[in-house]
Amino acid sequence: MTFPLNAPALAQVVAANGALIPRIGLGTWQSTHDEGVRAVRAALDAGYRHIDTAARYENEQAVGQALSVCGVPRDEVFVTTKVWHTELRAADFRRAAEASVARLGLDHVDLLLVHWPNPDVSLEETIGALNDAQRRGLTRHIGVSNFPVALLDRAVALSPLPLVANQCEYHPYLDQAKLLAACSRHGMALISHSPLGSGKLLADPVIADMARLHGKQPAQIILRWLIQQPGVAAVPKSSNPVRIGENLAVFDFELDAASMARIGALARADGRVSKPAWHPEWDTPDALHNPLPAAQP
Ligand code: A2P
Repeated sequence: MTFPLNAPALAQVVAANGALIPRIGLGTWQSTHDEGVRAVRAALDAGYRHIDTAARYENEQAVGQALSVCGVPRDEVFVTTKVWHTELRAADFRRAAEASVARLGLDHVDLLLVHWPNPDVSLEETIGALNDAQRRGLTRHIGVSNFPVALLDRAVALSPLPLVANQCEYHPYLDQAKLLAACSRHGMALISHSPLGSGKLLADPVIADMARLHGKQPAQIILRWLIQQPGVAAVPKSSNPVRIGENLAVFDFELDAASMARIGALARADGRVSKPAWHPEWDTPDALHNPLPAAQP
């Protein structure tokens, strides 16, 4: 992957087991059809070089269409897609990965992720299929998504090729210290999905206060807090061109240690926003800075 020298925002990458992952990417969940095409085009025009999609988002064709007309050379954009958790047996995985790459209109993606773990399929089989996809050139790098520490450790142990990222929910309301430590131990990036807590964090009074102090938007404070941490990238979703631009403009200011700690102290027991029925058993934080009061008997 190459980066134009005159674009400092683009040079902000996480290096992880041989992959260079731009710290800010465009999340595209719920951006479909023309809206998806417009969002990805707006992002690429604004300078994004990292686009995050998934078979499940039903927008790979839209993402591919935007990539094909944007004029940005293919090798300058880091494209991630994901295989859904019902497709994790080897033959299904292979078909699903091939179909994703074809829908994108590409000959390979940059990162292929197992979207969610599935306890009904052996992890060995799935990780084998993931490795196979890389060996066959369908993707430059491989990784997982929504894997808690114990599963991540097993996946790493089962994978002959390096896993470069675990994409998980991460934002100031959700303590992910254990997962960050595990990713760091494995040389992997933690890519934050739902970095704005699906929008929930934007009204937080502490975030609003920091935004005022720094003359920034609340979303920029949250994203800066994330990408200022070693090994962390983020894929905020927006389909609004102004907000898409705003979310990339986080490389011209810094949060000091006290501000980082103040934002980190917002973590709470009910901070998780993504809770689908098929979620694995999540890691529990060691101690919350501001645990909710215990329920009264
Ligand atoms: P929209 O697409 O209308 O901009 P997350 O990435 O945590 O899932 O958050 C996505 C949500 O946050 C979407 O509802 C998105 O709405 C909104 N959003 C994204 N960027 C911003 C921003 N800079 N300011 C306000 N809301 C934003």
